[in-house]
Amino acid sequence: MTEQAHTLILGIETSCDETAAAIVARDRDGNGTILSNIVRSQIDEHKAFGGVVPELAARSHIVHLDGIITAAMTEAGVDFAGLDAIAATAGPGLIGGVLVGLTTAKGLSAASGKPLIAVNHLEAHALTARLTDKVSFPYLMLLVSGGHSQFVLVKGVGDYQRWGTTIDDALGEAFDKVAKLMDLGYPGGPLVEQWALEGDPKRFKFPRPLLKEDRLDFSFSGLKTAVRLAAESIAPLSDTDIADICAGFQAAVTDVVTTRAKAALMRFASEMPGVPPQLVVAGGVAANKAIGNGLRQAAGETGATLIVPPPALCTDNGVMVAWAGAERLALGVADDLSVAARARWPLDDKDMAIGGAG
Ligand code: KG4
Ligand code: ZN
Repeated sequence: MTEQAHTLILGIETSCDETAAAIVARDRDGNGTILSNIVRSQIDEHKAFGGVVPELAARSHIVHLDGIITAAMTEAGVDFAGLDAIAATAGPGLIGGVLVGLTTAKGLSAASGKPLIAVNHLEAHALTARLTDKVSFPYLMLLVSGGHSQFVLVKGVGDYQRWGTTIDDALGEAFDKVAKLMDLGYPGGPLVEQWALEGDPKRFKFPRPLLKEDRLDFSFSGLKTAVRLAAESIAPLSDTDIADICAGFQAAVTDVVTTRAKAALMRFASEMPGVPPQLVVAGGVAANKAIGNGLRQAAGETGATLIVPPPALCTDNGVMVAWAGAERLALGVADDLSVAARARWPLDDKDMAIGGAG
């Protein structure tokens, strides 16, 4: 069968607290076009709890997903007959939400006769830079979000090697917990970054977990405890105290991420001599300017190219799921309607999930 000139894919994302759908076109040469991208954030529904409540998230996806899909189809001017496939995140993530998106996709696939593609959420993050920046394989991805912190070597579609992951909290989660313990609000990452601008990063000497170890894994839970103990020891906190704690915490994680990224890029260069090293960043924490500067420095020092897709495509969205579906469809890969939702689903089958979703 010869490949179609264009494929049109619907992508559905419901694995955390964004209900999202998008239509993406992919041509035979691998060029992608975003025809629509609808994202509904549930932040306001979870704010009072200081984090995502899985049950509330799943219910909210049920309420809103149909409308979001309709909006994505309408904006793109596409009907189901015009689609080539329906892609949905099948994991990893909060299982209730994943089930809502995947079951909806199965229903649409059965009703329309269009193939179903069950997408790994991490793969969707990993492949986004090929849509936005036409990045060629192989490249290194650093995914830093509320649920994940990992280095993944992306060798091809479906061909991944995890080089490092968190052994406890994800980086975004650590930002959120630090914000929560000082009542700064939710989500905490952008607020901690804002407070850190006014603070003295040297006042508190927070630990750099695992930094002396020769591995690419992360650990943030001890750092979070150190932040809590520091805050408790000087409570009640003045604005200066809060700013200094935020600055100290951000300096510590920036140090860790920068050092790790440099080590990962050096490993890339030594394992693949002659291949230009590329580092793609994904996940909400990629928006942090201090961490971004650290990564730029790591790339500069190792002669690597740093690729950061636009923030709206770094965080959870339907475009990345549609695009991963398009890349899979181009290789002739589709799934059976019996495919299961998976709370845990490492990209690299050899890797055990460590801690959270890894
Ligand atoms: O990728 P994302 O939107 O959602 C998932 O986790 O799937 O990432 C959200 C996470 C939250 O933990 C949030 O606090 C963090 O990314 N984040 C940031 C910043 N913006 C968002 N962390 C640090 N600095 C930021 N500017
Ligand atoms: Zn994500």
